[in-house]
Amino acid sequence: MKNFIAPSILSADFSKLGKEVDDVVLAGADIIHFDVMDNHYVPNLTIGPLVCNSLVKYGVKKPIDVHLMTTPVDDLIIQFCDAGASMVSFHPEATQHIDRSIELIKSRNCKAGIALNPASPLSLLDHILDKIDFILIMSVNPGFGGQKFIKNSLEKIKKCKEMIDKSGCNVEIEVDGGIGINNIKSIKEAGANIFVAGSAIFNSDSYDEAIKKMKQEISSD
Ligand code: DX5
Ligand code: ZN
Repeated sequence: MKNFIAPSILSADFSKLGKEVDDVVLAGADIIHFDVMDNHYVPNLTIGPLVCNSLVKYGVKKPIDVHLMTTPVDDLIIQFCDAGASMVSFHPEATQHIDRSIELIKSRNCKAGIALNPASPLSLLDHILDKIDFILIMSVNPGFGGQKFIKNSLEKIKKCKEMIDKSGCNVEIEVDGGIGINNIKSIKEAGANIFVAGSAIFNSDSYDEAIKKMKQEISSD
């Protein structure tokens, strides 16, 4: 599967967000990861559909990957799809009707993802694997950027990859939290192909260098 680097704008400078996104795209970003927190499902508050739509109107062409850390989710799914998101994931614990929320994303022609917290079991995927486009495995507890990668996530990614391969479904694995140049290779080897990185890119001296090094780490040659 093709690899994608998805900078999380949570660690960007919001006073110049358009430029920050332009800069990571120029540096090689494939996807823009957009963290939505509601001070309810997680103890932090970030950005909503208006900001997503501003980026689209500003001219951002890369897919915007909306990670909903909110409850409930359905109304925001509609708003973000209408605002120009390309991918939307939500946490299954945050909705009453998981299947309905997935269908809602797909009915708006967006890719649907299920986000699993570090302690959320893979069995939550049992009856929906054939309906989703990607699984977002959280390798930190959701709510903040700059946290340390939880090591046992690697085992979970491996098990998740086995589960997908066994099912024959075409589902990608995105990993989110604590990813940097030093661990991205092991995350790829465990089975992931979409790599979210916030602080490792936006807090670096050169976005170019950071993304280039990450890509080198995961290139197969
Ligand atoms: C955490 C967010 C992540 C986070 C990643 O709740 O979902 O996307 O911002 O940031 P880093 O790469 O700094 O862990
Ligand atoms: Zn995220």
